[in-house]
Amino acid sequence: MPLREIKDRVFSVGAIDWDRTLFDELIPLPDGTSYNSYLILGSEKNVLIDTVDPTLSSELLNNLERLQIEKLDYLVVNHAEQDHSGSVDLILESFPECKVVSNKKCMELLIDHLDVEEGKFHIVEDNDTISLGDKTLQFIMVPWVHWPETMATFLIEDRILFPCDFFGSHKATSDLYSADDRNVYNDAKRYYAEIMMPFRKTVSKNIAKVEKLNPEIIAPSHGPIYNNPKFINDAYKDWTSDDVKNEVVLPYVSMHDSTRYMVDFLIDSLIERGITVKPFNLTVADIGELAMALVDAATIVLATPTILSGPHPSAAYAAILANALRPKTKFATIIGSYGWGGKTVDTLTSLMKNLKVEILEPVLVKGLPKEKDYQALDKLVEKIYLKHKEIGIII
Ligand code: FEO
Repeated sequence: MPLREIKDRVFSVGAIDWDRTLFDELIPLPDGTSYNSYLILGSEKNVLIDTVDPTLSSELLNNLERLQIEKLDYLVVNHAEQDHSGSVDLILESFPECKVVSNKKCMELLIDHLDVEEGKFHIVEDNDTISLGDKTLQFIMVPWVHWPETMATFLIEDRILFPCDFFGSHKATSDLYSADDRNVYNDAKRYYAEIMMPFRKTVSKNIAKVEKLNPEIIAPSHGPIYNNPKFINDAYKDWTSDDVKNEVVLPYVSMHDSTRYMVDFLIDSLIERGITVKPFNLTVADIGELAMALVDAATIVLATPTILSGPHPSAAYAAILANALRPKTKFATIIGSYGWGGKTVDTLTSLMKNLKVEILEPVLVKGLPKEKDYQALDKLVEKIYLKHKEIGIII
């Protein structure tokens, strides 16, 4: 990443990972990502906020070298996950006098996962400050965005908030600032869905803390910087609210088309009732897109054939994923076809126990769907319509 000055003596010094396609060996990255790191030169003390993934340490070190800083007093670690803390050891090697500033929980994780020496730490608590001379850092604990130790750092005089993962997006871009609101919205929503959604309630409380600070700039550690914090704050408030939309997410898999016929029928019937439907063929679906669709949808319908007495493994995976992401969905059900029997419904519902949903009557069909089965699907659509009306998302 090129070296860029955000404000007087506040630099972006991190790395852009144009080629990364997968994160946590789970999340597809269609547009790469970045590991943003920020250097602040105070009149008396210098500080680096977060480091970069160890694969791109050299970019961070090169940027620091180009700035020819004589000393680094503090390295703030807002979050212990390795894509931000993975170069801590190299920074401490290059600047032996540097103290690692973090909270106690984060210190414990850094000792466990990265073998950082306990004597290197300067521990801070909520709202503590550190003076850099003419600039001051304030530390705000924002736990569970998305690890227990997460905190944000506020540069008081310049009104810049550095929240690490919070408000971030997996996006490799040459734009330092978020340029196109629509694209940024989608990137940030995808990131929220994949990373933050399971912690929706605590994230919501942390948004309130950020709003109180009234930052002029939010500089996360993935993706572009926001110079219009209201934009991302409002988006987060919407995603974390209890409000759902008149939408059905329909992850499906079909082996010999019987389930596929049911899915096609259901899609048409939902559209005819004015309900937005988002189908995902689980054999090819991007799970990030599926996660993003789950952010707002009122209803999930999972469609699967029965194989070896249970759901297709792809459908089980979708159920486990939804269960882990804990969307605010209100209703769920299962449709599909079976050959001679099985426990598909029981297995799938047991895999989605974290979801606070009302389970609507499933539609399981022996073999090819017949007229009575299509009628059952129509009844299901009617039920979804009435439920959506009941909660006020269909006027
Ligand atoms: Fe970007 Fe939780 O690490």
